[in-house]
Amino acid sequence: MNLVLLGAPGSGKGTQGEVLSQHYNLKKIALGDILREERSEGTSLGNKVKKYMEEGVLVPDDIIKEVMGNKIQDNGFLIDGFPRNINQAKMLEDILAEKKLELNAVIYLDVSEDTIVRRLTGRRICSKCGALYHVVNMPSKEEGKCDKCGAELIMRKDDKEDTVRKRWEVFMGNTHALIDYYSKKNLLMKADGNLDKDRVFNIIRENLSR
Ligand code: AP5
Repeated sequence: MNLVLLGAPGSGKGTQGEVLSQHYNLKKIALGDILREERSEGTSLGNKVKKYMEEGVLVPDDIIKEVMGNKIQDNGFLIDGFPRNINQAKMLEDILAEKKLELNAVIYLDVSEDTIVRRLTGRRICSKCGALYHVVNMPSKEEGKCDKCGAELIMRKDDKEDTVRKRWEVFMGNTHALIDYYSKKNLLMKADGNLDKDRVFNIIRENLSR
């Protein structure tokens, strides 16, 4: 099965991506995580994308093409964070056509702007293993420490309220058009991302089993 997770920042793509990839044994390709890794390693690609990511705007498509080109090799993948505009959707179609692969579904996590501001300003991430927490919805057992590895929990720079609102605008101006695009291709599967994470997962699972 080959899936794409589509949704606004904070809609739960990372959260659902983790459980779905484990449940269905899919290779998770999370573009935001890949770019952050490049930045933390200080590569030339990482330096190129830093400014865009900190401002909460999209990294230019030519850079994204360079990154995505060799990430998809075989069936059994789940992509989080790509495509984010129509041009990138066509880029994905070219990559899949070249590898003779097909997309089975695009899962759209539908959330409100209020939900994402609440979620992202409260999100905390383990500085070592990347585990996700939320100060209210999913707190760690010991404040500021990861339950899994004990490392420090940090806040992403682009999770400040002003930047979150900017990212929402970018989503509405670029990515939202993909809902219609994939709906016309009969690939769109919508789930209410405002619900709690287990309910969202169950809705997706039920839809995929139909
Ligand atoms: P990226 O890292 O992909 O960020 P994003 O799309 O803005 O999404 P987030 O990771 O912030 O949120 P999420 O939907 O994964 O939610 P999460 O599960 O963490 O991209 C960052 C930047 O990279 C972009 O701004 C851009 O600059 C660049 N970029 C990336 N891809 C690009 C592309 N294709 N083209 C150009 N540029 C690109 O959940 C959020 C919080 O809510 C967590 O605390 C979680 O615990 C909590 N939560 C999750 N689900 C629930 C729930 N159901 N109920 C309650 N709490 C929940």
